[in-house]
Amino acid sequence: MRNMAWHREHLPDPLPEEPLELAHAWFAEATRRAMQPNPNAMVLATADPAGHPSARVVLCKQIVVRPGYITFYSNYNSRKGRELQANARAAIVMHWDALHRQLRVEGRIVRASAADSDAYFASRNWQSRLGAWASQQSEPIASRADLYKAVAKAALRLALPVPPADEQAPDPSRRIARPPHWGGYQLWAEAVELWVEGSARIHDRARWSRTLTPLAAPAGAGFATGAWSATRLQP
Ligand SMILES: Cc1cc2nc3c(=O)[nH]c(=O)nc-3n(C[C@H](O)[C@H](O)[C@H](O)COP(=O)(O)O)c2cc1C
Repeated sequence: MRNMAWHREHLPDPLPEEPLELAHAWFAEATRRAMQPNPNAMVLATADPAGHPSARVVLCKQIVVRPGYITFYSNYNSRKGRELQANARAAIVMHWDALHRQLRVEGRIVRASAADSDAYFASRNWQSRLGAWASQQSEPIASRADLYKAVAKAALRLALPVPPADEQAPDPSRRIARPPHWGGYQLWAEAVELWVEGSARIHDRARWSRTLTPLAAPAGAGFATGAWSATRLQP
């Protein structure tokens, strides 16, 4: 019986050929079981041209198993946006604490298509859409009052109520254009690492890597993907 604990959970043996299938299943399980408030939260690390790293939490909106990328949304002029413009590489980590699992992905960044960004923007609540217009993310602002003023100004320009004004919510079918400085990113996976907590600190860990070759056309279309190669790593 005592030995059973050593086999509490581990990665498949042999390792699967497609790591993002398992990552997708973990993400779906974390979402379904709702054991943490934001199971789609991930830390996104970027680096500036001098190699200085920075990290922050963003929300994972989709794991696309084939061809293999993760989607998130942000302000293209933010600090992360500027860093990704200069150095289109990033790493993410998702930690599902209650499930004792960690997912790491490293890879290359392209912007989502305008159509995809439009569709996601249109699905957001009106306050979030207003906020995307009002906030110059990562820029300094003198006071909280000035931030409210910026929101009120954007609301006036877009003919929207000034929050908080839930009772005056605009007609949900009302179209609010997506700001040109806001949209999606795809993190194309070049390396994936899955980690499972084992008992007695004998965790299980494996890393997959593959090559990404930029597609010549159309620009920003993504990458041709090589086959994954997998290695178990010591924890
Ligand atoms: C739970 C959580 C979810 C967040 N989701 C996003 C997101 O999806 N996109 C985003 O731009 N910022 C998101 N943020 C805010 C970022 O962490 C960060 O403050 C902001 O993007 C500015 O980062 P930057 O100055 O490094 O660009 C989130 C923060 C938290 C705590």
